[in-house]
Amino acid sequence: MQTKVIKIDRNNIDMKDIAYCADVIRNGGLVCFPTETVYGLGASAFNSEAVKNIYKAKGRPADNPLIVHISDYKMLELVTDCDGEQRNVLNKLAEAFWPGPLTLISHRDDAVPAEVSCGLDTVGIRFPSHPIARALIEAAGVPIAAPSANLSGKPSPTRAEHVIEDMMGRVDVIIDGGNCDVGVESTVFDIAGTKMSVLRPGAVTLEQLLSVVNTADELDWMKPHMDSDEKPRSPGLKYRHYAPNATVNIYDGVRPNLSNYIIEEIKNAKRRGFSVGVLATDESICYYKEVDGVVLSLGSLEDSLQQASNLFHCLRRFDDMGVDMVFAEAVPKGGAGDAVMNRLYRAAGGKIVTVETARDSEGHIC
Ligand code: TXA
Ligand code: MG
Repeated sequence: MQTKVIKIDRNNIDMKDIAYCADVIRNGGLVCFPTETVYGLGASAFNSEAVKNIYKAKGRPADNPLIVHISDYKMLELVTDCDGEQRNVLNKLAEAFWPGPLTLISHRDDAVPAEVSCGLDTVGIRFPSHPIARALIEAAGVPIAAPSANLSGKPSPTRAEHVIEDMMGRVDVIIDGGNCDVGVESTVFDIAGTKMSVLRPGAVTLEQLLSVVNTADELDWMKPHMDSDEKPRSPGLKYRHYAPNATVNIYDGVRPNLSNYIIEEIKNAKRRGFSVGVLATDESICYYKEVDGVVLSLGSLEDSLQQASNLFHCLRRFDDMGVDMVFAEAVPKGGAGDAVMNRLYRAAGGKIVTVETARDSEGHIC
């Protein structure tokens, strides 16, 4: 398939280009486009053949449902079928967080083909804030079903170059709209179940959601969800994800022990002939000056939004530089930190090494 790459300036959108891309969507084609979280791989949510092609282009398992993107509340009416308390909650959350990086799982209207939701009676809906995404959906005049525009299992794309790497020859159009701001995928919040629950952490936190709804919890994503036959509430949790080609190892602990431990691990890896990478922070990168490998910073330990926006690009850079093993420091939870740790944890295949802190006889960290 011939893929056309079209550059669009988010601050000065060329509506002729948008009209072209919207036609591709209406005619059953596939368009990759930027959103404020990550790039999406979109097709008309009402065209089941086009939706099936999304799964093919990504190599995505057939039981992992897609998010439907809307650009106004008329579209919301078309894709959801809910009333009473769920409708109430949906309206309140939409008012508080849309347009923005929040996906709501609600009951699906029959107008949305079963392929979008893999046969579930629910549908994930998101009203993105990115001006190019909004212009595209609006011009297409139909909701757009879109997963992240990466090959299944790879880190999500946060820059056009990532999409080109994964999707060239697999889709009709790639819109190059610059870098995504948030950098991790939307928070997925299920309001259709008996208890409202965050299924995937993102930039909108449980704490923020609790300022609008009375009770809600967050799925414990540290529990093993991978390769299980049990039906997970969020089908996406079953799969190893966000993973570069390199093996990712996460270490949690307090510096300097943490860095010393990682440096020892790196020496072992180098002795065994592996090329290494370190995912550090602005505060810790100085500890790895002597490391013969690729040392990257996620950003400041105190700025979880910055960490989120750098994470997937860093993971892809390790691959570009031929790294076999990545040694990553855990970052603090809270804010977007939960989302960063969730993605790292899954890139690592679900394991974290806790580094014990050495203390002196009086209990001080040494
Ligand atoms: O920020 C985002 O959400 C990006 C941009 C493109 O909008 N999209 C994205 O899509 O991350 P994807 O397909 O990579 O992830 C969608 C997640 C998956 O974990 C999927 O299992 C879950 O949402 N999901 C979608 N529909 C669902 C449903 N009806 N019930 C439960 N989980 C659902
Ligand atoms: Mg994805």
